Amino acid sequence: MGGFDADVADAPSVLHPGLLEALAADLAALNYTVGGVADFVGQEAYAALNRDQLVPVLLACEEELRAADPSPLVVPILLWLVGGTLTQDQLNLAFPITGADGLQALRLIDPMDAPAPDTLRRAAVELRPYSSDADGDLWVASDLGALQRPGVLRHDHVLGIGGASLTLAQITVRPRARTALDLGTGCGIQTFHLLSHADHVTATDISPRALAFTRFNLLLNAGPLGIDPRALDARVSLRLGSLLEPVAGQRFDLVVSNPPFVITPRSTEESPEDQFTYRDGGLPGDDIVSGLLANLPGVLAEGGTAQLLGNWEIPAGRQWDERLREWLPEGTDAWIIQREVQSPLQYAETWLRDAAENRDRAAYVQRYADYLGDFASRGVDSVGFGYIWLRRTPGGAPAWVRCEEITHEVEQPLGPHLGAAIERGDWLASVAPGGAGTAPGQDGTGQDGTGLDGPGLDGPHPDGPDRDVPGRDLNWEYLLVAGDVTEERHQRPGAEHPGVILLRQGAGLRRTTLLSTELAGFVSACDCDLTAGQIAGALAVLLGEDGPDFVPDLLAMAGRLVLEGFLIPAP
Ligand SMILES: C[S@@+](CC[C@H](N)C(=O)[O-])C[C@H]1O[C@@H](n2cnc3c(N)ncnc32)[C@H](O)[C@@H]1O
Repeated sequence: MGGFDADVADAPSVLHPGLLEALAADLAALNYTVGGVADFVGQEAYAALNRDQLVPVLLACEEELRAADPSPLVVPILLWLVGGTLTQDQLNLAFPITGADGLQALRLIDPMDAPAPDTLRRAAVELRPYSSDADGDLWVASDLGALQRPGVLRHDHVLGIGGASLTLAQITVRPRARTALDLGTGCGIQTFHLLSHADHVTATDISPRALAFTRFNLLLNAGPLGIDPRALDARVSLRLGSLLEPVAGQRFDLVVSNPPFVITPRSTEESPEDQFTYRDGGLPGDDIVSGLLANLPGVLAEGGTAQLLGNWEIPAGRQWDERLREWLPEGTDAWIIQREVQSPLQYAETWLRDAAENRDRAAYVQRYADYLGDFASRGVDSVGFGYIWLRRTPGGAPAWVRCEEITHEVEQPLGPHLGAAIERGDWLASVAPGGAGTAPGQDGTGQDGTGLDGPGLDGPHPDGPDRDVPGRDLNWEYLLVAGDVTEERHQRPGAEHPGVILLRQGAGLRRTTLLSTELAGFVSACDCDLTAGQIAGALAVLLGEDGPDFVPDLLAMAGRLVLEGFLIPAP
């Protein structure tokens, strides 16, 4: 289902290229940017807006409108961010090139026949400034949110840039790519980021409205995105269709997706029109995510990667990652980080609130009960949320799977740190003692060989030997302590020696790990003067350890510290 109309009646219009240019010029002249709006309403009010609290911005706008000579910047803020009304005259003054009629022709305000100068006009969509390191200042149109318009969200709601969109954009590892796929593009946010490092992006969605919003946004921001508006196809293909169907037979270097992963109770009477397409893929349970894990590797070029967000059900009595591991096809490397776990009750509340389904009491009670019944029918104890990284294992290498739970705050953007961790894992796996490489997870247990998976993995780990870390022989390697790492020693008052020694990362995944005395000694000597083998050997002599396992055990533990980013190979 590739062909579809570029112009969708109920979405911003791309039929007037001249008006799009006029709008971009007017918005730039207004300084309608993230910085411009934040300065105008104040940092606190702007931060509140990002928490979906409109009142402080509304109050700032109302105060501005009472001024003798209000700044025209109040107009787009009140119109598109708050969902307020402005007169035809005010719009004409603030948008001298586009004019209120132009905004109507672009379908950015509600249509009206022959409005008088004092007729109040209302936004048809949200148009929000967005700023990214890669592309600079952009304007992104999406549907008005639950706070900017009354009632339950429309079921074909086109999502704006939300927390999950930003999370995915920030965790994406961004190597140069020839081809990229943005599955379920929505307003196009992931595509905008992909354009900064991919030659060509295919953006898909099941919703023609979403694709129309994406096209509008691409054309409105053609300059900063490096697009020739007359030859959009040279950089971006927009494809209508479900999941991987529109890209059947194609392979990509990189796939990103913030898919409609929200687990939703199904009913025999429901029709596709009943589903909130922006979050609900229409399948039972977590089938959207299981299907993507099973099938995404099939559209990856060799060594190609996919990153997505997802929810997964955790049935009573099972480890959170057991089902995820079962879904992965052979020949796939995977790193899955569980970030959050919710009970069925918390999950129902979150998603009923999200679509403003909590405004009608009777419907709310029914829907809440539906969620609980649905989870109970599959014995679901809790629901996990997290980050998924997949790679079609490069030729010949053994595949590996790491699953770990990290629920504390991490540093964003995380993408560069994840990329560096994957490189270190590949480095560790590239040469094994005796010549055979051992990839993380290939320890013969069928589990993550790093010992990183399972609950509590991001807390202090047991300081015993960790021979399952990928098998590069560190004996001859020079290692360094990573720049963001600090050591903490804790001891009882008056004690001669510390009882607890911790290493902490300030950046990235912000891990903390517990060290034995000998491992602490090892780490403190990692300054490139001696190889890892020399350090371990010297410690053996110093501590009078002459057992055959001391040095290999210490090097195995050091390997784990490399994998986790506390130590790095010397350049
Ligand atoms: C959570 S939104 C993500 C939007 C955007 N990519 C982002 O990061 O914010 C999910 C998107 O997937 C689309 N979608 C829903 N079901 C789909 C399906 N079966 N196939 C492809 N896209 C689908 C929705 O229309 C929506 O635009």
